[in-house]
Amino acid sequence: MSDTAEIKEKKKVIFSAIQPSGTITLGNYLGALRNWVKLQDDYNCIYAVADLHAITVRQDPKAFRQNILNAYALFLACGIDPEKSPFFIQSHVHTHAELAWILNCYTQFGELSRMTQFKDKSQKHADNINAGLFTYPSLMAADILLYQADLVPIGIDQKQHLELTRNIAERFNGIYGNTFKIPEPYIGKVGAKVMSLQDPTKKMSKSDENVNAWVAILDNPDVIMKKFKRAVTDSEAVVRVGEGKDGINNLIGIMSAVTGKTEDEIAVEFEGKGYGDFKTAVGEAVVETVRPIQEKFNDYINNKDYLTETYRKSAEFALRLSQRTLDKAMKKIGYVAR
Ligand code: TRP
Repeated sequence: MSDTAEIKEKKKVIFSAIQPSGTITLGNYLGALRNWVKLQDDYNCIYAVADLHAITVRQDPKAFRQNILNAYALFLACGIDPEKSPFFIQSHVHTHAELAWILNCYTQFGELSRMTQFKDKSQKHADNINAGLFTYPSLMAADILLYQADLVPIGIDQKQHLELTRNIAERFNGIYGNTFKIPEPYIGKVGAKVMSLQDPTKKMSKSDENVNAWVAILDNPDVIMKKFKRAVTDSEAVVRVGEGKDGINNLIGIMSAVTGKTEDEIAVEFEGKGYGDFKTAVGEAVVETVRPIQEKFNDYINNKDYLTETYRKSAEFALRLSQRTLDKAMKKIGYVAR
């Protein structure tokens, strides 16, 4: 494609957000975050830390504030570039909560009741089944629709929410005429699926009781090495992808994701070597991947002025952009202009 063709072709808009959950795992990084970084070159990306969504479960104020800042700094360290892609804190942009209220009035009780995440979470937090947990998807719909996003990169667990977002947008457009772009899920090429190091039939998750099952991006190198050395394997003692070799398959997948080598190349490289050597090599490759991220994270988290300036600038940009959509929707409903 020639330069001029590229300039004429308007880039599609991507929106995504991640909750500030405290720990970002290797699974989050290789499965989602790293793709966000790559998408910045080909799309107009807008990213946010979804801190409004986070209070559907109770948060300790001090830890919560730190988790939001840590998530923000860590995403910068991973390569989110706010000069290219506005990257803001959701609660700083008031249009999100406003449109969420409006969309609530165009979302049916029955639709929200069918959300599997709501059903799961209300079982897990049976003592706090609050209305926010129930209407969580309309806030997520607001996040996406405010920016007229074309594409939303999401994991399988959020697919039902995106489907609902599309239904809400179509319903609104059906009543008032075209207001919201109908977003599509973005299914990445191969976001590596990282499994638990202790039970490789399960996804790697920081809520796993066994801390050896997951690796955090900010884990110390020696902790990372220890966790990989303890990783569950099989009794065949051959480094290759195969059936009944979930542990080794997972380690090969991780190795491939962090080094860019193919599964075959890895199998050849470790021919005749034991699992001990292989696990050490995977641990070392992961440590090398996270080392520069950890260094940058430490720089950012200790540079409060830079952080503040950056999230403020992105929030101002996001506000201007999202206000247009909110105004348009409100006018259609019949609100009196400010
Ligand atoms: N609900 C998403 C999650 O928990 C986070 C999120 C909030 C999101 N708003 C969004 C994701 C908008 C994509 C688009 O993973």
